[in-house]
Amino acid sequence: MQLAPIYPVTTARLRLRPLTAEDIEDVVAYRSREDVCRYIPSEPLDAAAVTQRLADRWATHVITGEGDAVTLGVELATTGRVIGDVMLRFVSEVHRGGEIGWTINPEYAGQGFATEAAHALLHLGFDDLGLRRVIARVDARNTRSLRLGDRLLMRREAHLIENEWFKGAWSDEIDFALLESEWRGQHVTAPPWCARPQPSNSPSGSD
Ligand SMILES: CC(C)(COP(=O)(O)OP(=O)(O)OC[C@H]1O[C@@H](n2cnc3c(N)ncnc32)[C@H](O)[C@@H]1OP(=O)(O)O)[C@@H](O)C(=O)NCCC(=O)NCCS
Repeated sequence: MQLAPIYPVTTARLRLRPLTAEDIEDVVAYRSREDVCRYIPSEPLDAAAVTQRLADRWATHVITGEGDAVTLGVELATTGRVIGDVMLRFVSEVHRGGEIGWTINPEYAGQGFATEAAHALLHLGFDDLGLRRVIARVDARNTRSLRLGDRLLMRREAHLIENEWFKGAWSDEIDFALLESEWRGQHVTAPPWCARPQPSNSPSGSD
C-alpha cells in the first residue's frame, strides 16, 4: 500500500500540497499562536522551528510504508496563501488503518476550509491509499474540532477519560472513526465541498 499523490490535490476552493520554504511566513502566522496549539501536541512554532519541520517530519510527501505520514499545506486557490495544514498517517498495513489531523489559521476559520481539506484527505486515504478505517483523535475540550469530525460524518467511537497528561493537565480524548464502507455510503450524497467526480455507477438519486 503506497500513496504518491500528484500535487497539488485540488478541491473546490483549495490546493493541498507539500509545504516549502516560501510558505514559512504563512505557516508561522498560525502555528506560532498559543490558541492554535492549545489542543495539539505541537508547541507554538517560530520560523526556525517551521524550517526544521520542513527538513524533517514535513519532508515526507509520499507514503511508502506503515508509519509514514504526509503533512500538506492548505493553499487557498484564490490567493495562493497557505491557510493551514493537514496530516494523513498510515498507521497499520495489516489493519489498513490511517489517521488524519487538521489545523487552520483562525483568520480563515468558520468558512469550511478545514472540513474541505480533511475531506480531501479521506479521499486520499480511502480511494488512493486503500485504507479500510480512518481515525481522528481529538481533545474532548476542542469543540471546533469535535464539530469538524461530526461534519465529516465520522463516528464518535470512544471517550477516553484522562488518558493523557497534556500540557499541564489530564485530558480526555474523543476518538472518531470512519470505515471505508461508510465512506462509500456517504458519497451517495456527497457534500458540496467534495471536488471529486462521483463514480459512474452511483445509484440514481445521488447529488
Ligand atoms: C479544529 C479547526 C481546524 C476547526 O476550524 P473551523 O473553522 O471550525 O472548521 P472549518 O474550516 O471546517 O469551518 C467550519 C465552520 O464554518 C462553517 N461553514 C461556513 N461555510 C462552510 C462550508 N462551505 N462548508 C463547511 N462549513 C462551512 C461551518 O458551519 C462551521 O461553523 P460552526 O462550527 O460554527 O458550525 C480549528 O479550530 C483549528 O485549527 N484549531 C487549532 C488546531 C487544532 O486544534 N486542530 C485539531 C487537532 S485534533
